[in-house]
Amino acid sequence: MSSQPPHPALLIPGPIEFDDAVLQSMSHYSESHVGPAFVSTFGDTLSMLRKLFQTSHASSQPFVISGSGTLGWDLVAANLAEPGDDVLVLHTGYFADSFADCFETYGSRPTQLKAPIGSRPQLPEIEKALKEKKYKLLTVTHVDTSTGVLSELKGLSELVRRVSPETLLIVDGVCSVGSEEIEFDKWQLDGVITASQKGIGCPAGLSISMFSGRAIETFKNRKTPPGSYFASMKNWLPIMQNYEAKKPSYFATPSPQLIHALNTSLTQILSKPLSERFAIHREASQKVKKAVTDLGLRQLASDSADQANGMTAIYLPENVKVPELLPNLFKKGVVFAGGLHKDIAAKYIRFGHMGVSVTDSNRDDIDRAIKALETGLSEVGYQKA
Ligand SMILES: Cc1ncc(COP(=O)(O)O)c(C=O)c1O
Repeated sequence: MSSQPPHPALLIPGPIEFDDAVLQSMSHYSESHVGPAFVSTFGDTLSMLRKLFQTSHASSQPFVISGSGTLGWDLVAANLAEPGDDVLVLHTGYFADSFADCFETYGSRPTQLKAPIGSRPQLPEIEKALKEKKYKLLTVTHVDTSTGVLSELKGLSELVRRVSPETLLIVDGVCSVGSEEIEFDKWQLDGVITASQKGIGCPAGLSISMFSGRAIETFKNRKTPPGSYFASMKNWLPIMQNYEAKKPSYFATPSPQLIHALNTSLTQILSKPLSERFAIHREASQKVKKAVTDLGLRQLASDSADQANGMTAIYLPENVKVPELLPNLFKKGVVFAGGLHKDIAAKYIRFGHMGVSVTDSNRDDIDRAIKALETGLSEVGYQKA
């Protein structure tokens, strides 16, 4: 039984529901951010991230910085690209536009490779683009939260290494880390940025990232200083290295309470094989997707290979409007999100199925949500043809 006050199950694609222990670890008494106890907790947290991202290279570098997922874009754009550098941004929805905006803010030149809504750029077109121009970075949104499209990383990495080996491969994993398989070393990724509030199951407020030794070298070899102060790796790199070596260090005050929460959620996640966690997410996702199909509805991601395992974006029937359906579901105790992709926002809803809502067998969030969707749709006038 949860000790949290009764509340509707938050089944948006982040923030997600919290485990009691994660939430309770935030009520830790105040302690110095440079005291030995906290430094040890922070250091262990960084080491656990290596396991979550599946990297054992000593040169890989985790960062945990107060901020949200957006700060990860700044870390990449301010430190790994220089003004005038070309960046290839693979577009599968809303979040690629924002990442591209972030690159422009720092003076680099993003080129977006777009796919029709619900799909993703295919390897032959990516290969063509990589052969046309020298790109310093290629970015891919692992799961675009606006469309529920999952991008495939292994084949992409092989392509980049073959066609343009100097290009750094950067993954926006804000909506994938913790719910989708990521093999940082095996897939030769150069950077994965994420945040605390989705698959990791921790309250919002932490930018979490992993960079390869190659990415760190790229930063160190910059000709120009980073165009950001707070997001500068120059400022954060020694701090992260010191924390992991259990040495006190200061650049900007971390949030001890959030670090405690992250430490607890990572301890829970790593207490079981990661493969089991990903399999549970796949199973829950299949259940949701089958229910959606059985209802006669379509997903934005039409090809099953492109469908995320931690969320589902569902087109509504013609006669059903988002502002009618979502309050109906809320009354039934589940919170879904409306559409986000600007071209079709009014036409679909998003159902998040990550973290404790799927991994905790004592919870029935997913079954309740499916039931609510079935009855809610019929109450607002939908009948399957
Ligand atoms: C794929 C993706 N990237 C980046 C972000 C930005 O993260 P935040 O809202 O935590 O700043 C989000 C937020 O939902 C996201 O889903």
